[in-house]
Amino acid sequence: MKDENQKYLWWQEGVIYQIYPRSYQDSDGDGVGDLQGIIQRLDHIKSLGMTAIWISPIFSSPMADFGYDISDYCDIHPLFGTMEDFDELLQAVHDRGMKLILDLVPNHTSNEHPWFKESRSSKDNPKRDWYIWEDAKEDGSEPNNWLSVFGGSAWEWDEKTQQYYYHAFLKEQPDLNWRNPEVQEAMMNVMRFWLDKGVDGFRVDVMWHMIKDDQLRDNPTNPNYKSHQATYEKLIPAYSTDQPEVHDIVHMMRKVLDSYDERMMIGEIYLPIHKLMTYYGTDKNGAHLPFNFLLLSTDWDAGEIASNINQYEAALPEGGWPNWVLGNHDQSRISSRVGQDQARVAAMLLLTLRGTPTIYYGDEIGMRDVPIPEEEVQDPQGLNMPGLNLSRDPQRTPMQWDDSENAGFSPSKPWLPLPADYRRVNVKAQSDDHGSMLALHQRLLNLRQEEDALRIGHYKPMEAQKPLLAYMRYTSNTRFLILLNLSHKTCHFHPEHFQFEGTIEIDTLPEREGTEVKDKISLSGDEGMVIRLKHL
Ligand code: NOJ
Ligand code: MG
Repeated sequence: MKDENQKYLWWQEGVIYQIYPRSYQDSDGDGVGDLQGIIQRLDHIKSLGMTAIWISPIFSSPMADFGYDISDYCDIHPLFGTMEDFDELLQAVHDRGMKLILDLVPNHTSNEHPWFKESRSSKDNPKRDWYIWEDAKEDGSEPNNWLSVFGGSAWEWDEKTQQYYYHAFLKEQPDLNWRNPEVQEAMMNVMRFWLDKGVDGFRVDVMWHMIKDDQLRDNPTNPNYKSHQATYEKLIPAYSTDQPEVHDIVHMMRKVLDSYDERMMIGEIYLPIHKLMTYYGTDKNGAHLPFNFLLLSTDWDAGEIASNINQYEAALPEGGWPNWVLGNHDQSRISSRVGQDQARVAAMLLLTLRGTPTIYYGDEIGMRDVPIPEEEVQDPQGLNMPGLNLSRDPQRTPMQWDDSENAGFSPSKPWLPLPADYRRVNVKAQSDDHGSMLALHQRLLNLRQEEDALRIGHYKPMEAQKPLLAYMRYTSNTRFLILLNLSHKTCHFHPEHFQFEGTIEIDTLPEREGTEVKDKISLSGDEGMVIRLKHL
């Protein structure tokens, strides 16, 4: 096998843990998570066996989109702490042998950012061209038909200077004009600021949005639009996203990273497989990991998932490293999407596929979306499009640490509510329970850490009937067979052309671990197993 002697980098061998900082741990009693809180909880993350932590934005921000509207890229929001707290966090992460990845939001700033304030001050301000300003059409309407992801037109009229500006998200999040070299340089300097401090990488927000059609042509209508969808889905964003020039920008960022040691960048990109692959760049000079969101969008069906895994594997460019995601702060949690029993199977899938897994905080204990009363909704996506159930608050609720008041998250009322069952579903309760979701994660993460076959080994799909998903992970001297029952009903694995013998090493039903198996296996509903095969 040609690549067994290859050196793998931390972001290839490792596991990434995403923290939504408002909700991880509150240290100062204001009901909102903060940097000192994260420091207090690093041992949990380390003991799970995480390699790197990605923290959603912690920078100065009016919080119109909870930090994804940045007013100073090089400062920390007081809600989260100070720059000293940040330095302490970075040191504490590194002291534990882990890496820290920051969220970089280069597509747009806050409307409170000094750059935008200057830009909107007059038509001849030197920063006017840092954003996307356009005249109205003759009848006064918007320059084109582009829509905001958060509802309504993507153009906002500016009374003072009599032009529209473009915002892919909220009107409080004006898009930067990445065709302007000064904008490019300013953002490269932001990257250098954090890299000089020792930050290990960036998760780049909406990477595929960064450059728009230079003629601002109308987007085509989407014939498949359904009324329960966000209005943004009415059009296909053919001219407002994924433009060919975006790759020059990504490459520019990559060059900055490559001037440091072993730093990396993940791109947030929601695109079909073949378009996604282009973000690795020609000669791998693009993103190290273009986020693979297939498991967020594919129906929970063994056939569909197997086909998507295989298409993804087949489409990867030479040397392009795969990655997998089950959840993030924008998506309903896996336990809510597929149910708590299947979420265990999903965890096994995530942690045994080939490529870097990203785990969303709380998924390691099977946290579910928390119902938020209508009058308490905070997320602008939910508030702007009421009735469509699009609020992202349910997946952003406080981490459930223990059975004390407010789940050990904060002494005060948390910014979002806890679920009714948090006294049962929490880290502490699951720590001593071998059958828990946490213990399952722990075993999967340990095995992955120990076994080259799982971490860097090859992947081979195995023939299986629905509802079974089956594949092999192997090196020249170790083979694991992974069997996942994606249904609640029993099923059987009895391949015609494959004889095997081995031991169940990890099972979603821990009672079965250590069992010897040969040639055929019956699985319970919601059961998944990792089988160590005997040597041939
Ligand atoms: C993607 C982020 O993940 C999401 O939370 C945010 O609202 C948008 N980008 C806008 O920055
Ligand atoms: Mg706090």
